[in-house]
Amino acid sequence: MQYDFETIPDRAGTGSLKWEKYAGKDILPFWVADMDFCSAPEIIADLRHRLGHGIFGYTLPTRDAVGATIDYLARVHRLNVDPSWLVWLPGLVPALNVVARAFAQRGESILTCTPVYPPFLTAPGNQDRRCIKVPLATRENRAVFDFDALEAAVEADTRAFILCNPHNPVGRVFEPGELEQLAAFCERHDLVLISDEIHCDLLLDEDRSHIPTLALGDEVAARTVTLMAPSKTYNLPGLACAYAIIPDARLRARFQRAARGMITEVNCFGYAGCAAAYNKGENWRRALIGVLRANRDRVYAFLREELPGIGLLPMEATYLAWLDVRPLGLADPVAHFEAGGIGLSNGADFGAPGFLRLNFGCPSARLEEGLARLAAAARTRR
Ligand SMILES: Cc1ncc(COP(=O)(O)O)c(C=O)c1O
Repeated sequence: MQYDFETIPDRAGTGSLKWEKYAGKDILPFWVADMDFCSAPEIIADLRHRLGHGIFGYTLPTRDAVGATIDYLARVHRLNVDPSWLVWLPGLVPALNVVARAFAQRGESILTCTPVYPPFLTAPGNQDRRCIKVPLATRENRAVFDFDALEAAVEADTRAFILCNPHNPVGRVFEPGELEQLAAFCERHDLVLISDEIHCDLLLDEDRSHIPTLALGDEVAARTVTLMAPSKTYNLPGLACAYAIIPDARLRARFQRAARGMITEVNCFGYAGCAAAYNKGENWRRALIGVLRANRDRVYAFLREELPGIGLLPMEATYLAWLDVRPLGLADPVAHFEAGGIGLSNGADFGAPGFLRLNFGCPSARLEEGLARLAAAARTRR
């Protein structure tokens, strides 16, 4: 089947978080991580089928969704997951907050590396826990864990480490050695390892494969909570369906206790979308990766040729480019680019002021418009 990744969708009036932010303004949104592509036709067909049933009651994890997820984890990531290890969730942002409540007491700390997806930084504070932030280092043009800094930062009351792999926003796909060293660090300090792998099916380089933290061995698996969802890959975040994989029964019980009464069921369309994505979405996903790879290469080439002052590390995964605009010397980078008609995510929210995140998950014509606006704004000093 041929898929359409070129038509620019009109999302006005759909309550789109991404587009409503700039409604009525000549600002193109390249911020939050949802893509301007229709979802896979195979998924839309299954959602229509579910809609046709006409009854939308409270829904338990469906046999279809559970089966599809277990098959997918085995087929794609070579993980043998028992269905009882899955905890279904309406999103991973709530999961990050549950994790903070579940694994640290009030006032205790949780460690993560910056820059990182903002809810990693805010979830501990939301739950009256402390967040210890350790910057990633840059070595040989790659963002890497700084283990000396991690050893120096970890405290006696640090209870968990939150990992993002593949990494939003720096686009790294961590290698087995790096993950093993991180797991050993967590073991040494008895930290629960929270592994957010929501971007694991968006690897852009064909010769790379995702290493699930769970695959590092039984001891690592026993201290790991893996967070996953089909939402980023198949552009379904509004269906609100995600899950945690928690092999250890005690960790799972702590997680479920912390979530009790706070986390709603997943809705019936979330399960239907999940089952369809994992069972029938692979051809669409492969086509998408081709489009994203071309967009990524275009962003690189454009910046190199037109805006060599803006820094960009190699992006191995995701549809998010992490731009170092510090050389432009802007007082307020987000406002500066908004004035030039392009809305970007603020690096300060990720723990890195002076950076901006650009979402290139969109048709190529839209990306060209964005890049032209980016260049014009970068050349304008206000
Ligand atoms: C690393 C990471 N985790 C979680 C999420 C959001 O998850 P959800 O939409 O399931 O709350 C995102 C969204 O961009 C993300 O990048």
